[in-house]
Amino acid sequence: MTVPDHPCVLVSHPAGPLSGTVRVPGDKSISHRALMLPALAVGASTVTGLSAGEDVARTEAALTALGVEIERLGDGRRRIHGVGVGGLAEPEDVLDLGNSGTSARLFAGLLASHPFVSVMTGDASLRRRPMARVTEPLAAMGARFEGRAGGRLPLAVIGSDRLVAGAHRLAVASAQVKSALLLAGLNTAGETAVIEPAATRDHTERMLRLMGLPVAEEALADGAVRVSVAGHGALSPVDIAVPGDPSAAAFLMVAAAIVPGSRVTIADLCLNPGRTGLIDTLWQMGADVTVTPGADQAGDAAGTVTVAGTGSLRGVDVPAERAVRMIDEYPILAVAAAFAEGETRMTGLAELRVKESDRLAAMADGLTACGVPVTAGPDSLTVGGLGSGAGRPAGGATVASHLDHRIAMSFLVMGMAARAPVAVDDAAPIATSFPGFAALMNGLGARLGPPGSSPGDASPGDAAGHPA
Ligand code: S3P
Repeated sequence: MTVPDHPCVLVSHPAGPLSGTVRVPGDKSISHRALMLPALAVGASTVTGLSAGEDVARTEAALTALGVEIERLGDGRRRIHGVGVGGLAEPEDVLDLGNSGTSARLFAGLLASHPFVSVMTGDASLRRRPMARVTEPLAAMGARFEGRAGGRLPLAVIGSDRLVAGAHRLAVASAQVKSALLLAGLNTAGETAVIEPAATRDHTERMLRLMGLPVAEEALADGAVRVSVAGHGALSPVDIAVPGDPSAAAFLMVAAAIVPGSRVTIADLCLNPGRTGLIDTLWQMGADVTVTPGADQAGDAAGTVTVAGTGSLRGVDVPAERAVRMIDEYPILAVAAAFAEGETRMTGLAELRVKESDRLAAMADGLTACGVPVTAGPDSLTVGGLGSGAGRPAGGATVASHLDHRIAMSFLVMGMAARAPVAVDDAAPIATSFPGFAALMNGLGARLGPPGSSPGDASPGDAAGHPA
């Protein structure tokens, strides 16, 4: 059946084994950068496999408002006519970045280094998110910002093409903040350096190098990494094929791992080592995950991942150092943990409190409603796994998604393996990163639909090996 992407309430019924081979949307992080960096090149670049999610559409619309010509060649295909480093034009209106934190942080760096005034806003979730982490170092370079308390959106940016280069030691390991500073550094004379406490995803650095701009990287003694660019270099146009998003694939991987008898293959997936923490954790839990490397895409490792559902996962301690490599995957890992035998302890997660929602609170509330023992600390989550047999999570609850796509998708996956259906109160945010999620999942054998429907023909207690 066809399920629209915008029902308010969506219900996930217990499902039989999931099977099939699919592609997931183009990687969201790479897609934002595959629009922004070619926009600064001299000449035309082409991009294929771009994410069709609303977040990336917000970046595209904002670039258009800043004077960049972007031709739509088809689904996920664009030709971007670069304006050169420093060539963005003052927008006529407020830039509305919707739900997209990556757009807001990366544009803060771009706008700060152009000599005009612009204003960024977003939805209720984005307007709550901290921006001081980008505005403070950019202000130290000489840009000015006028925002709400804590520098929150709506935020006016009074930029300059005479920023002062320097080195910035970040308090938070954040690829968004690192990227914002590197982007500002492109239009700033001298060397702009970022010292991040731990290595975060490096898509910006890889794409800059693909475009002919050297990016220096140095591992420091304390585990920190120093990344730097020299300003006023030129970016050459490129052709970029965006690989699939591991943070979207995560929902399919965990669904396959917790519904016994499943076998799901995801092709053309980004396998950047900074993004594969969930795969390492699933291996640690005893899941059956096979990774087959393929050719690099967009300067990043890529390949195919197959997950088979064995019905036996074990609870684990997830080391805090792994958080940077799977920061967006903790909500769905918590669902996997609920179906494992024994406790799973996740630490080093303070950042999850300031994502699209307070993800530690949202997961704790939703898991509790589904009958799963859980404790959330200021920066930790401990889930008491109930296994995948007769005593597995009860489900039978309606969970609040808090304008957060990953919370909505996590609980829909939970419903596939729980004893009773799980509903989310608002599934619309899923479109920010994974349009077509419900239809794709149903194509694999899931049973997602609006309330009152009975999608699919599987019934609890059937071929999944679950007792009725
Ligand atoms: C992103 C970095 C991460 C991640 C976000 C996308 C990026 O945020 O959570 O979904 O594209 O750089 P932080 O860098 O703030 O941790």
